[in-house]
Amino acid sequence: MKIQNAVNIDDLRRLARRRLPRMVFDFIEGGVEDERCLEVNEASFARYRIVPRYMVDVSRRDQSTTLFGKSYASPFGIAPTGLAALFRAEADLILARAAATANIPFIMSGASTASIEAAAQVAPAHTWYQLYAARDNRISEDLVRRARDADLDTLVVTVDVPVSSKRERNVRNGFELPLKLKWSKSLEALMHPLWIAEYLRRGIPRFDNWAPYAQPGASAKAIAAFVGRQIPCSITWRDLENFRRLWPRHMVVKGIMHPDDAVRAAQIGVDGIMVSNHGGRQLDQAPAPLEMLGPICAAAGNQLAVMLDGGVRRGADVLVALCLGARFVFVGRATLYGAAAGGLPGAQKAIDILRREIDLVMAQMGCPALTGLGQGWLLQPPTLRMRTEVYAEPDGAAEAEERGLVTEKIAQR
Ligand SMILES: Cc1cc2nc3c(=O)[nH]c(=O)nc-3n(C[C@H](O)[C@H](O)[C@H](O)COP(=O)(O)O)c2cc1C
Repeated sequence: MKIQNAVNIDDLRRLARRRLPRMVFDFIEGGVEDERCLEVNEASFARYRIVPRYMVDVSRRDQSTTLFGKSYASPFGIAPTGLAALFRAEADLILARAAATANIPFIMSGASTASIEAAAQVAPAHTWYQLYAARDNRISEDLVRRARDADLDTLVVTVDVPVSSKRERNVRNGFELPLKLKWSKSLEALMHPLWIAEYLRRGIPRFDNWAPYAQPGASAKAIAAFVGRQIPCSITWRDLENFRRLWPRHMVVKGIMHPDDAVRAAQIGVDGIMVSNHGGRQLDQAPAPLEMLGPICAAAGNQLAVMLDGGVRRGADVLVALCLGARFVFVGRATLYGAAAGGLPGAQKAIDILRREIDLVMAQMGCPALTGLGQGWLLQPPTLRMRTEVYAEPDGAAEAEERGLVTEKIAQR
């Protein structure tokens, strides 16, 4: 199958799997431990039904939306994904370019293989930067400064990687930082000559953003080892407050799953949060972001922009999330499959597929503009209940009480 013939995101996924060696594809595809969370993420959307309304004029549909004062052509953007150049040379910049052309935001990963400055050149008005706080705080602060000097509008601080998780596919494949691709175990890689040729020509992708902080003249491998010593870093609320002070423009916290954390982020003055479980790559027993969206919107939806990622593979998934209160939705693997399978045309194809699906579903459901969306469109599945004592604050109940717990609101059906 050719890229242009891909009918849905799953077709792009199959094309990516064909082009990439198993261990590389597994790095994109895989989750943590038993990959329950991964499964729950996708399944959470299928549990909702959209109830259509007919005899509405849907001859014109508008899926544009405004976020942080900027108008985007669609209500979804590209989530940050690290090490992208391993899947396709210059994949970060390919994704940035595809986003700019489609007028949607692109979040450059804190583990990207291109630099902030390069992305800012390719897509100045569409690039956001995602920060992975480094153990050496001077590096984190310098990365924030660089994103500011590059005139990027939005800083995304990812908080859901306190430690590396047990991604069992990667362990079995010997795929860890610094990269140790076990060729001996991977004769299979030889079945993917196009990828191999590119890899041999370019070598190990370099973490360009981090190069200035490693030893001068360090090799790509030495920089990767340096990055492996700096991240992950167990970030705290105090760090977040510090980043808020340093960053003058829009700030988003990625990886919020608890309504109380959403409220606390709002109190710090954060402009948005991304309800996310890192695409099922961190805590296998975590709920799907979609399951926490309602309680989080109820707790903090009027104080900041609540966004979501995780498991979105269809335009209808985007619309379900918007009906449940998300202001915006991000996709990780969907556009990555496209870029890995077919470079820029592949990334553009992924965006186009989602955009067309959104358009068609809006017509089918009888909702010509996103402003008309809401819970009234959905048949809701039964919700898992949480016992309030499960919500005890890690910092201590007294402090939680002082800040006004929102736990009672969560346990609603
Ligand atoms: C290959 C890969 C790399 C990722 N790298 C990062 C990263 O560097 N920073 C980050 O905040 N999230 C990272 N994520 C998580 C995504 O930003 C996003 O939360 C997730 O992919 C959403 O789920 P989805 O893939 O089902 O759309 C990564 C995800 C994948 C699949």
